[in-house]
Amino acid sequence: MQGAHVHASSLHTTICERLGARIPIFGFSHSLEVVAAVTAAGGIGVWGATRSTPEEIRDGLAWLAEQADGRPFGIDLVLPQGMPETDDRAQMEAAIPEEHRAFVTGLRDKYGVPDDGLPGTRSRFVRSEEMADRQFAEILASPVAILAMGVGSPPAKVTEAKEHGKTVISLVGAPKHAERALAAGADMLVAQGYEAGAHTGDIGTFALVPQIVRLAGDVPVVVAGGVAGGEHIAAALALGGAGVWMGTAWLFTREHGMDPVVRAKLEAAGSADTIRSRADSGKTLRQIKTAWTEEWEAQAAPTPLKMPFQDILVGDFLGAVERHHVEPLLKSEAGQSVAYFDQLTDVRSIINSLERDATAALQRIDQ
Ligand SMILES: Cc1cc2nc3c(=O)[nH]c(=O)nc-3n(C[C@H](O)[C@H](O)[C@H](O)COP(=O)(O)O)c2cc1C
Repeated sequence: MQGAHVHASSLHTTICERLGARIPIFGFSHSLEVVAAVTAAGGIGVWGATRSTPEEIRDGLAWLAEQADGRPFGIDLVLPQGMPETDDRAQMEAAIPEEHRAFVTGLRDKYGVPDDGLPGTRSRFVRSEEMADRQFAEILASPVAILAMGVGSPPAKVTEAKEHGKTVISLVGAPKHAERALAAGADMLVAQGYEAGAHTGDIGTFALVPQIVRLAGDVPVVVAGGVAGGEHIAAALALGGAGVWMGTAWLFTREHGMDPVVRAKLEAAGSADTIRSRADSGKTLRQIKTAWTEEWEAQAAPTPLKMPFQDILVGDFLGAVERHHVEPLLKSEAGQSVAYFDQLTDVRSIINSLERDATAALQRIDQ
């Protein structure tokens, strides 16, 4: 198999050396099945666990370690600054303005979303320093080798993770974030551009990456935001990146197990059908356009609250939307790369195409 040999050599970067992966493709997902499959296919699966309890983190990491069989995988926490000390929902509730409550009640009435008294993903616990410390403690105690930090890299946590032998990867969306992450001691950076799904900043990937590469010096930079195919991987390497980090692509895999209604919305979406909205968390979160984002864009809508108050304002409501399958409001985070995917596939097929097409793109450039 001459082809396989070519694949292995042309995509072999410092990321492969440092982490022991065959190809420098990180697959971020909240689905453990996706993470395990990315790692099994030769990439590096990273589990988004910021909304998981400490117990779930312990169990999830143990399961991943078993599946990975020595291959590299990681975990990602979102550790924003300025969160409350404790997980005190009553205190949060007391600070929510009446106007905001009335707006959400209005949405309940309009779309017939039952108030079933149960929490959603965003409200199952309050984002707090206390919870972050407990999540972090489980990670330190586990054999997981890679810890990624989205939205901020607190220096004390970076130091502690490194002391426990973890490779720390910081997601950054602007040069100032990169400066902070480098000063904190991050081992690798993910330069994540505006196009990316979920929390994302103002600078496009193409404009961002070389700036971060220059700042990073010897610290490897991985490219995220809009990466969908092999040609993007070749471009990422040309920009000075040492690999890519992808999130949106995996939503289309069997391993992810996406609700069919939401998947149909994703399949139909083009790059202009996503929008950054503060309506979910208080920070700009790229997602597909739905009745949910339209309602919050409307002139009469209140300005979303700061994190974590917005989480608590809308968390139970969004949970009920999913539980009761309220179609107009069903949604997903997704990036502009959503345009490249229009059918159900699996992780290995995506990785195989990425590898094949990246190799072809690199050869084309080389000629
Ligand atoms: C559904 C979804 C959820 C995400 N959740 C997180 C998260 O919890 N933490 C994080 O650091 N990044 C999160 N991201 C961003 C990814 O880590 C990644 O940077 C991004 O998806 C890359 O751009 P792409 O969407 O164009 O592939 C999420 C992305 C998606 C699509």
